[in-house]
Amino acid sequence: MSVTDPAGPLLRVTDLVIEFDTPAGRRRVVDGVSFSVGEGEVLGILGESGSGKTMSTLAVLGLVHGRPGVVGGQIELRLGEERHALLDGLPEMLSPGSVAGSVRKDDRRWERHVHRRMRGIWGRGMTAVFQNPKHSLDPLMTIGRQLEESVRLSEPHLRPDAAGTRAIDWLAKVKLTDPARVHRSYAHELSGGMCQRAMIAIAIARLPQLLIADEPTTGLDTTVRAEIVELFRDLMHDRQRAMLYISHDIREVLYLADRVMVMRQGRIVEEASASDLERGVGRRHPYTATLLQAADLPVGEAA
Ligand SMILES: Nc1ncnc2c1ncn2[C@@H]1O[C@H](COP(=O)(O)OP(=O)(O)OP(=O)(O)O)[C@@H](O)[C@H]1O
Ligand SMILES: [Mg+2]
Repeated sequence: MSVTDPAGPLLRVTDLVIEFDTPAGRRRVVDGVSFSVGEGEVLGILGESGSGKTMSTLAVLGLVHGRPGVVGGQIELRLGEERHALLDGLPEMLSPGSVAGSVRKDDRRWERHVHRRMRGIWGRGMTAVFQNPKHSLDPLMTIGRQLEESVRLSEPHLRPDAAGTRAIDWLAKVKLTDPARVHRSYAHELSGGMCQRAMIAIAIARLPQLLIADEPTTGLDTTVRAEIVELFRDLMHDRQRAMLYISHDIREVLYLADRVMVMRQGRIVEEASASDLERGVGRRHPYTATLLQAADLPVGEAA
């Protein structure tokens, strides 16, 4: 874990603010969120639906598309010797809005800016597994070709036939029963659960420094789910990769994560080590207490 590493954590998010204009006016959906993840560390993110879990992590990926979207904060990513300040230049894109205290943002210019900045980082630096695989897979490319692109990122010197074999190995690792068939299939030829597993393989095969997994096991049946969680755990522990893991399943999060944060209404209401949460050590926010109770886990002291 490198939270105490003199080089600083792999990812540090400070005072992140995300807002959207809606027919009912400006809504703040992420309200001053700060967290960090060290190398080889897994940060689990829990919280009620709509609490800002997905938006907070999409901001790290530079993929918040609503407007104005990210309007404040800092996101720093350290990849080897390189440091990237992902929200640098944001203040220059903001100007006072019509309502006191609100801001306007030059959204188009900001999107171009983010896209240029993120191009070198997506892939090997960080990558994501989202809830909806059909939208994340390329419909015009076989699963095998998409997977081989990932393999080439992490093992650039592999010969093409070896990359093909490695891709099939990854498909077997995510428990797809006929990896060779999946390798030559397109997304529309596979079931939702198969696509989900293929997408997990494509993301993991890149061996990114930081993997962002947003409810990656949703839609999978219980046995496969347990196997996939195991795969994430092995990858993180063996290869010292860092992960942000969002899930509604508190047991899954406690099993995978070193630390856990709990979100509610755009804010972090609790941050604790997974082992303290699991053993009922320390004072708990009432919302965390209800999550623990619902999973038959010891609550500890309610704050
Ligand atoms: N483009 C948008 N315009 C307006 N509101 C948005 C937009 N995108 C997201 N929101 C709102 O932002 C809030 C936070 O959304 P987010 O997707 O981060 O929630 P979440 O914690 O991931 O929830 P879930 O557990 O259901 O996935 C929600 O209330 C959502 O409706
Ligand atoms: Mg979400």
